[in-house]
Amino acid sequence: MNDELEKLKGDVKLPLGVLVRRTLKYISSEKGGFILSLFLLALNVVLDSISPLFTSAITDELVKDNINIKLIVNLSLLSFAIVCINQLFLYLESIILQNCGQRIIYRLRKEIFEHIENMSLNQFNEMPVGSLVTRVTSYTASMSDLFTGVLVRILRDLATLVGVYVIMFFISPSLSLSLLGVVAVVFVISYIFSKVVRGIFRQERACISDINTFLSENLAGMKLTQVFNQEKTKEEQFNEKNEKLRQQRFNVIKAFGVYRPLISFIYNASIALCFVQGIRYGLSAGEIVAFYMYLSKFFNPIQNLADQLNALQKAFTASERIFNLLDVKPDVLDKPDALEIEDFEGRIEFKNVWFAYKDENWILKDVSFVIEPKQTCAFVGATGAGKTTILSLIVRNYEVQKGEILIDGININDIKISCLRKGIGQMLQDVFLFSGTIKDNITLHDESFTIDEINEACRYVNADSFIDRLPKGVEEEIIEKGENLSQGQRQLLSFARTVIHKPQILILDEATANIDTETEVLIQQSLEKMKSIGTMLVVAHRLSTIQHADQIIVLQNGEIVERGDHQQLLKNRGYYYKLYQLQFDN
Ligand SMILES: Nc1ncnc2c1ncn2[C@@H]1O[C@H](COP(=O)(O)OP(=O)(O)OP(=O)(O)O)[C@@H](O)[C@H]1O
Ligand SMILES: [Mg+2]
Repeated sequence: MNDELEKLKGDVKLPLGVLVRRTLKYISSEKGGFILSLFLLALNVVLDSISPLFTSAITDELVKDNINIKLIVNLSLLSFAIVCINQLFLYLESIILQNCGQRIIYRLRKEIFEHIENMSLNQFNEMPVGSLVTRVTSYTASMSDLFTGVLVRILRDLATLVGVYVIMFFISPSLSLSLLGVVAVVFVISYIFSKVVRGIFRQERACISDINTFLSENLAGMKLTQVFNQEKTKEEQFNEKNEKLRQQRFNVIKAFGVYRPLISFIYNASIALCFVQGIRYGLSAGEIVAFYMYLSKFFNPIQNLADQLNALQKAFTASERIFNLLDVKPDVLDKPDALEIEDFEGRIEFKNVWFAYKDENWILKDVSFVIEPKQTCAFVGATGAGKTTILSLIVRNYEVQKGEILIDGININDIKISCLRKGIGQMLQDVFLFSGTIKDNITLHDESFTIDEINEACRYVNADSFIDRLPKGVEEEIIEKGENLSQGQRQLLSFARTVIHKPQILILDEATANIDTETEVLIQQSLEKMKSIGTMLVVAHRLSTIQHADQIIVLQNGEIVERGDHQQLLKNRGYYYKLYQLQFDN
């Protein structure tokens, strides 16, 4: 379990070999494209490497006494043609590569999203949403950079280094050999630099992730921040993170600020060396010019190497975090031979159920009850007693530690989760609405529902009266999380959403918020109607809602302390009776 937690946080180190192998697996799905672009890349490097030879030939011609203008013109035209062709290759290569890379990333994002969807609520609780967003967006972007740029650039740089050096060697072996010393120095500097920058980059990424997490949490909770006048505190917390990021960015810039001029210095020194030694070794003017041009071609990749190695490192860190996430096994999974059940009778049984969200901190203690098909069972108890927990166990949001939950006599662990959630309609305590129209929120984008069915569902749960008053009716847009609807209206919408999907078992976790008497009556009436749909489990805070329930279960600290119908419980004069008296007095 601890290992899974580490993976959720993205902190499990994977060996480089594993990272490379898994990354290559993604590439192999786009093999054709990659091979084609590698071929174009090879052509590109060859053409690019021979182009200074034309300048060299022209220079040699220019220093002659009788200049052959025609030859110079021809050479220039040829050189120009090669540059044009080369650009075309470059264009094709990048189009093909981008296409492959983006397709890989598209699939990766899809895979991550689907994976996240399958995780249990317990796993979600362990993971800040901001960090998930970062993984789906930024980290996949870093990986996309790997496929579309970094790998190819590194290959191109290496090929260029080799190609250019070979040509330089042909022009003047002795001059090329004396360059080797310089190359060695540059390599050492680049290597040290990449080590230093790697650490800085890692810290920078940690800062970015931190800021993202903070932002997503606090933007979502902005209302609360304002209500509690916490703007100043939040501002300070944000500024602190912001300042850290600024410093890290600045460290990156400082490091490059030292590295680039240093390499540039060595480059210029080697140009001087090239001229001085070139004359000493008796090279022609054209050869010296060619050598000079090759030097710049040679230094470019070396200078980039540190950058590329860092990008590679960044991509591998990103892929590590992504693979970490993909490696987290969903807690709650279908068994291989899980049963597909289309329609439930609706008999629900809890058999000595013990449940804890964490460790041995029991929230439900030895809970047992039976609800017969089509019966309505209400759960009553103080806040935190475990009512919502019971409901969320029935739909397998969490796994019970001891005991069993049976539906129609079958352990819910043996039923396909999708069937379970299809057969059980949930109306939860905090109604979640997506941005979109009222219609979208009722049908959940299932186009098979006709407008008549939608209207019928709204009428059934008494949501029609407020929807009809809206200018656009069911086509009315809902702003983020339903801020433009009242609590009661949101609850009615969630009823309509449930009813239209025709479940055989209904779960209702009544909103605690105060709603006006008129809406309360509407909710009451629609609840009465919904009873006829199937088995119903209700958590009610207003006891008036549940007086007609077939069975009322009273919970205290996760234990059942009383059960019976309304009249029996009143006669018992126990906890329920007290609760009823309290509400009645109010
Ligand atoms: N995701 C969670 N992780 C850890 N503990 C939780 C979680 N959700 C609920 N709990 C704990 O479980 C206990 C029961 O919570 P539950 O939500 O079932 O109460 P409830 O009876 O529905 O209360 P209310 O009437 O306020 O809705 C509480 O003590 C709560 O702190
Ligand atoms: Mg609750």
